[in-house]
Amino acid sequence: MEMKVNAPNILIVDDEIGPRESLRMILKPNYNVYAVESGQAAIQMIQQTQMDVVTLDLKMPGLSGIEALKEIRVIDPDVMIIIITGYGTLKSAIESIRYGVFDYIPKPFNVPEILSIIDKSIQRRKLNLKVKEVLGHCSHQPLIKEPEVHSDFPLQNETKGITDFRWDGIAPSDHQSCLEFAKVLAYTLEEKDPYTSGHSERVCYYSDFLSKRLSFPPKERSELQIASYLHDIGKIGISNRFINKKGTLTPTDWAIIKQHTKKSIELLIPLNLSSNILSYIQHHHERYDGTGYPDGLVGEQIPLGARIIAISDSYDSMTSDRPYRKPLNNGDAKSELLKNAGKQFDPKLVSIFLEVLKEMEEVFLVRDPVRASAVAY
Ligand SMILES: [Fe+2]
Repeated sequence: MEMKVNAPNILIVDDEIGPRESLRMILKPNYNVYAVESGQAAIQMIQQTQMDVVTLDLKMPGLSGIEALKEIRVIDPDVMIIIITGYGTLKSAIESIRYGVFDYIPKPFNVPEILSIIDKSIQRRKLNLKVKEVLGHCSHQPLIKEPEVHSDFPLQNETKGITDFRWDGIAPSDHQSCLEFAKVLAYTLEEKDPYTSGHSERVCYYSDFLSKRLSFPPKERSELQIASYLHDIGKIGISNRFINKKGTLTPTDWAIIKQHTKKSIELLIPLNLSSNILSYIQHHHERYDGTGYPDGLVGEQIPLGARIIAISDSYDSMTSDRPYRKPLNNGDAKSELLKNAGKQFDPKLVSIFLEVLKEMEEVFLVRDPVRASAVAY
């Protein structure tokens, strides 16, 4: 293969010769293209050659796409992965999100779409590496130091440092780049903790369904997407010792965890995000009955976007595995939402959210009856 200097390396993984070769021909003019026909061969190739992007078929004999995906992630956490498959389901989409997939394209794909997604994935990879480099500098000194002794005033000297964080040269200006940037930041946060992998993306997925149902105008919809990705970004400076603690949290632990909403805002201020985005992030732990934090807002005083994120965030947390508890099934998670409607959550939004979930389940049941049970994740 003739190597193009400075061109990104792309690996195509597909057992079917037709799509594999057509993709190779499409990508050949601009990239160094490698192609293999199995998950096993893909793993060997990635061990030998640094890839920028991998396009992965999900349904292959031998090692399945999802199994290959898990192993590829272990070998190279930074490679961009695009799933191209004729067998998409809600379960496989959500499962692949868990492993940091960049995009999910159904077969048959069209040429402009695939070229555009590959190009975006290359841009994202560059941004990823840049963000990692910046965060790498910060990681030498924790943004929020852990307390050495517990006292009645545990937070006085622990939060210094996070406001020294600098975004020079990487802050995006328009909404689309901002969303891409927010995703990268969220993924970087989630890399710290395998239990939260894909959480922000799923929160965005659920919030976006709600905002469409509520007919948000495009700008507000995009603001909610960005806020959904960034809602917990302040946790970047909090030790996993607190976030994933098993057993009862002490008042000091709680005080530190609760700081993440305020820290998110301090961290994001230099990015000049809109006041809507910041307010959604700041207030996503307020409770409808006024007992939440940071400001104890009540009912509709809480910004609508923050009330939506509160529901999406709790639903996804309840249905995901955590070190301190097993996930709830879909039915139990819905009952919890209902039980807390009017207390923790906006009751009107809870009923709309439950309707939306029901419709999502029905759509996937109709599209893929064989895998109907998969929706009870
Ligand atoms: Fe949070």
